[in-house]
Amino acid sequence: MTWTAPEPYNELPALPPRFEVETRTVLKATVAARAAIAALDQAARRIPNPAVLINTIPLLEAQASSEIENIVTTADELFRFAVDESAANDPATKETLQYRSALFQGYEAVLARPLTINTAVAVCSTIKRRDMNVRRLPGTYIGNPSNGAAIYTPPVGERIIRDKLSNWETFIHSDHDMDPLVAMAIAHYQFEAIHPFEDGNGRTGRILNVLMLVEKGLLAAPILYLSRYIIESKNDYYRLLLKVTSHAAWEEWILYILEGLRQTALSTIKKIDAIGELQQETMDRIRDVMTGGINADLLLVLFEQPYCRIATVVARCHVSRPTATSWLNALVRAGVLVDLKVGRERLFINTKYLALLTRDEVITPSVGSIQPELF
Ligand SMILES: Nc1ncnc2c1ncn2[C@@H]1O[C@H](COP(=O)(O)OP(=O)(O)OP(=O)(O)O)[C@@H](O)[C@H]1O
Ligand SMILES: [Mg+2]
Repeated sequence: MTWTAPEPYNELPALPPRFEVETRTVLKATVAARAAIAALDQAARRIPNPAVLINTIPLLEAQASSEIENIVTTADELFRFAVDESAANDPATKETLQYRSALFQGYEAVLARPLTINTAVAVCSTIKRRDMNVRRLPGTYIGNPSNGAAIYTPPVGERIIRDKLSNWETFIHSDHDMDPLVAMAIAHYQFEAIHPFEDGNGRTGRILNVLMLVEKGLLAAPILYLSRYIIESKNDYYRLLLKVTSHAAWEEWILYILEGLRQTALSTIKKIDAIGELQQETMDRIRDVMTGGINADLLLVLFEQPYCRIATVVARCHVSRPTATSWLNALVRAGVLVDLKVGRERLFINTKYLALLTRDEVITPSVGSIQPELF
């Protein structure tokens, strides 16, 4: 049976794809992506305090991935409320922080046991803040935002969806000798094509991508920031997903994802290196202004989040409130921090760090890769 946009695609073929997807071109791109990811994993392991990356990169990922769903918040807001989630009152910020929680929850889950359908259900439920389950009712489809016409209609029927998800789960752990990055690209398409939930499939699927790499041992921490690339090339993302369905265009899709992985890994390495340099520079600066020596924990606190509070310094450096306040004031006077009054509280911003985290690291696309369309 051929596929048509308005009909539920219950004939979605099982994995693995029926023909060879690891063409010469794919293998070449795989080598480049693998090298970049290995270098990223190394860079992340080199940084003295891993919390620096774990607290920041997933927030950037959360922001970009949520933006694909048109949940738009600034990185500035996000970092500000990341130190006090309950104070966030803007729905987009809350939702994005929720995405970060889902990512962490999934990360902890894959450290403990293999990735399953239940991992996906748990991740989606956290994103949506309610119990999500596999769709039982028809009616879910991907439509054209301007006229509502169907672009793709996923399978219908709980039994069918569950069978397809079982096949997806088996594929992730099966002993095919496919490269894990290629397998990730294939599994991501399949998950989106199954579209198991009423909503949240895109965000859940993008979290599962990171988890697959962690599970395969390619990354020790969930610091893949692929959604930046996806949002910058959103039209290609949608177009190429659809083309796998309509034309079995696996190669184009896989190449798109591999190039994204390569660019993302390289830009994250750039960021990590810049963080290392700024940390060193800040340490020198602190040494100049703090009489009585540097407290090593203070430097850690200043880089775990770009925003910090007096209470954090008290707790982490084991000093009294007046001491913490006087340190932070000294850093404000020295221009290392800027203070901001929020309600009755004072927040201290490491502005150079915030600027570094939120800037785009530009990576040259590889020759022959799919260039993001301008839109
Ligand atoms: N033609 C297509 N075939 C399969 N999946 C698609 C297609 N077009 C888009 N998608 C996927 O569907 C997602 C949107 O589905 P859904 O609204 O359930 O997810 P979301 O997380 O709420 O939204 P978003 O992904 O936009 O953030 C897209 O992000 C993409 O991953
Ligand atoms: Mg949605």
